[in-house]
Amino acid sequence: MAQRTPLIAPSILAADFSRLGEQVLAVPDADWIHVDIMDGHFVPNLSFGADITAAVNRVTDKELDVHLMIENPEKWVDNYIDAGADCIVFHVEATEGHVELAKYIRSKGVRAGFSLRPGTPIEDYLDDLEHFDEVIVMSVEPGFGGQSFMPEQLEKVRTLRKVIDERGLNTVIEIDGGISAKTIKQAADAGVDAFVAGSAVYGAEDPNKAIQELRALAQ
Ligand code: DX5
Ligand code: ZN
Repeated sequence: MAQRTPLIAPSILAADFSRLGEQVLAVPDADWIHVDIMDGHFVPNLSFGADITAAVNRVTDKELDVHLMIENPEKWVDNYIDAGADCIVFHVEATEGHVELAKYIRSKGVRAGFSLRPGTPIEDYLDDLEHFDEVIVMSVEPGFGGQSFMPEQLEKVRTLRKVIDERGLNTVIEIDGGISAKTIKQAADAGVDAFVAGSAVYGAEDPNKAIQELRALAQ
């Protein structure tokens, strides 16, 4: 059975980049640090790359949940493995060989995940879940923080929850986009294990307190 403890993963995309180290240390109650990599091609926005990821890894012992919103992820995964990623999540829309890539990532001792855009159905990927430690269900169109939560994406979460539990898999279901005090409970009820929160954490007066509040609402 998958663990059902809510894991909270603040996204540093919403942090103040001019003091990134401090911002990573401002969330001691985070379970993971969510690292959003955007290449300006797969998504129409550019964030940062492997060097910044390695810098984040140097200031924290927390696990880095690296979300690759990039084309040709197979070309770049080694950079993120070397940067200290604990889990690498790539988009199924960006590769032809999602199972092969997951096997490669796992062979390096790193957890592997896939993510899907809101318009991509989950059904085609259910047979491959055993190869993945994590699935990120996007509840916004990837590319930007601060967008509105898409509740209809929870249908994918319900499907995943059912299949993962029936098969006794440990794949973690993570939701990403628009998670806040207003939306987190419905996601938890649908069966989400891990919650990414960008603006709800780093837009708050006290980011660590925001994490505690989100966790309480998800419990
Ligand atoms: C969106 C990113 C998200 C984003 C979440 O493309 O994958 O991780 O940072 O930000 P909020 O929580 O503000 O929607
Ligand atoms: Zn993300």
